[in-house]
Amino acid sequence: MILKDAKFLASYQTVDRCPPPDKPEYAFIGRSNVGKSSLINMIVEKKNLAKTSGTPGKTQLINLFQVDSVSQISNRKSINETWLVTDLPGYGFAKISKTKREEWNKMIEDYLRKRTSLMTVFALVDSRLEPQGIDIEFIDSVGKKSIPLVIVFTKADKLSQKELAKNVNAFLEELKNSWEEVPPHIITSAAKKRGQKEMLDYIEKSNKEFKV
Ligand code: GTP
Ligand code: MG
Repeated sequence: MILKDAKFLASYQTVDRCPPPDKPEYAFIGRSNVGKSSLINMIVEKKNLAKTSGTPGKTQLINLFQVDSVSQISNRKSINETWLVTDLPGYGFAKISKTKREEWNKMIEDYLRKRTSLMTVFALVDSRLEPQGIDIEFIDSVGKKSIPLVIVFTKADKLSQKELAKNVNAFLEELKNSWEEVPPHIITSAAKKRGQKEMLDYIEKSNKEFKV
């Protein structure tokens, strides 16, 4: 896949206000501060497209981005593609009011239930941590809705190969309690640009399966 352009479309308070579901869409979801916005910027190669912050709770609405790319089908044929990326608020952020937290959870829940053009949820997991109940719970809930899911480990630059392998394996092992076949996973670092190709390859393949 060759990236051509990426731009911010708009922010939406509810899924019902989002544009018609006529393009393949990929959602980035995970705990507050896990690196959703940073990863989006890395993947589409635009530094400040999605707003990032060291303070959790930066993203508060459904933010849609549009990406234009070219995909090679054969030696002589390539096609232009347009797909959307969704940046959502994080879950599990303790330092906000209960009302706000419930509002964000409902926003994510509604989005997952209603967005018919959603191709895959990229479920982001901080690779520095031991398996967290809240991540497993979220991933299980996506599985129950039969939405395709990829587990994306973030911030891989922050730990050694050995620690990374240990945490990734522990997480996948934990998932075996609730999953017959554990979903695919990609290891990423927005800081070191790791995992971009795997993400784009996945999206390129998935785009071909999109039907309006
Ligand atoms: P909310 O919108 O608040 O839920 O956060 P988010 O998940 O969008 O996280 P964001 O991308 O804003 O990143 C949070 C913090 O982690 C920022 O300080 C980033 O610079 C840092 N960060 C994100 N990805 C990486 C990474 O791959 N490596 C390192 N070292 N830091 C990262
Ligand atoms: Mg964010």
